[in-house]
Amino acid sequence: MYYFDNSATTLIKPPQVAEAVYHAIQNQTIGNPARGSHAPALQALRQVEQTRMKIARLFKVQDASQISFTSNATFAFNLLLKSLLKATDAVITTKNEHNSVLRPLYQLEKEGMQLDFLALDEMGRVRLDQLESLLKENTKAIIINHMSNVTGQMINLKKVGVFCQKHRILLIVDAAQSAGVVPIDMVEMHIDALCFTGHKSLYGPQGTGGIVLNHSNLNLETVFSGGSGSHSYDKEMPQQMPGFFEPGTLNVHGLAGLEAGLDYVAQQSVESIQKKLQELTLFFLEKVSSVPEIQVYGCNLQQIKKNPQEHGAIVSLNLVGWSSGDLADILYEDYDICVRSGAHCAPLVHQHFQTVDRGMVRFSFSSFNTNEEINAAIQALTELALEN
Ligand SMILES: Cc1ncc(COP(=O)(O)O)c(C=O)c1O
Repeated sequence: MYYFDNSATTLIKPPQVAEAVYHAIQNQTIGNPARGSHAPALQALRQVEQTRMKIARLFKVQDASQISFTSNATFAFNLLLKSLLKATDAVITTKNEHNSVLRPLYQLEKEGMQLDFLALDEMGRVRLDQLESLLKENTKAIIINHMSNVTGQMINLKKVGVFCQKHRILLIVDAAQSAGVVPIDMVEMHIDALCFTGHKSLYGPQGTGGIVLNHSNLNLETVFSGGSGSHSYDKEMPQQMPGFFEPGTLNVHGLAGLEAGLDYVAQQSVESIQKKLQELTLFFLEKVSSVPEIQVYGCNLQQIKKNPQEHGAIVSLNLVGWSSGDLADILYEDYDICVRSGAHCAPLVHQHFQTVDRGMVRFSFSSFNTNEEINAAIQALTELALEN
């Protein structure tokens, strides 16, 4: 089987990830963190804090206690946005956003918050030149997707960060697609908050993710509350990170796996993973761009050759004469190739490229893919194009 749906989730994980989850249960040493002083409770706490430290290292933040774990990026965004934003605020976001950002923002918009969108250009790149014109007196934050899960187009975060600093607004980043494959320095890029998911390019188990704050002076309100293991007689949740966003028992077994995934990424280095993915993407794109029956969206060979750092390992396309669903089905049935078809949880990108009805077929690569595998995809697409 050829697996090219890594933007949905990475299927092939480093073996030590599964081993870590297995041992976290099998060794009978992981209790409930912060819920006791016996060895299993302390070992669980140690596990959580070790993983937190490694997330801090990945995103280059000083204070690991400003990181809360959630079950994925979607939960992270719901918590963060609903905790931070008020009906009197305005925010700027982009047409490249995933529904995990859009839907919480639409909910807040219903309550009165103002929402403005940066448009996309013909390549699906966010029109950062519109930032100035969208600024309002009450603009509180820019919420921006680092890497589109549809086109792979990326944002120059440093540029947006400098703009946010100048205008004293917050920069909140969706790093679901970029964490682990693109270097992110939250301090240097002036990122105030970031949400990530563990099961994509960090190679962790599903059910892991989190919120990373760069400082402690955000004015946050409680969204979810419950058991916290401390301040048990207070009616409210403790107001300090990380517990503030962590009511209930954490997925410690999953976090053991995430730690192993983070170790793998650190051993390989984000930079070398990025370089390998750029080579794979360029190889694929060079071949598919030369097939006249294939239309590629928001991914231009010349742009990638010139500025590979502007693009992730994601290529979405359609083939003349095929619906995206039928193409993905035949790729799987006849060629054993796994890709995603249809709409990709980013409705405004599909509106932009006029693929609302047809959808797109998305190929997304991981560092476990090889040139040989990509060749199989190219051959399958070329064969199907010739059948037309
Ligand atoms: C850009 C982007 N943001 C957020 C998410 C949500 O991630 P999760 O489903 O892990 O919450 C995804 C998932 O595909 C994504 O691609």
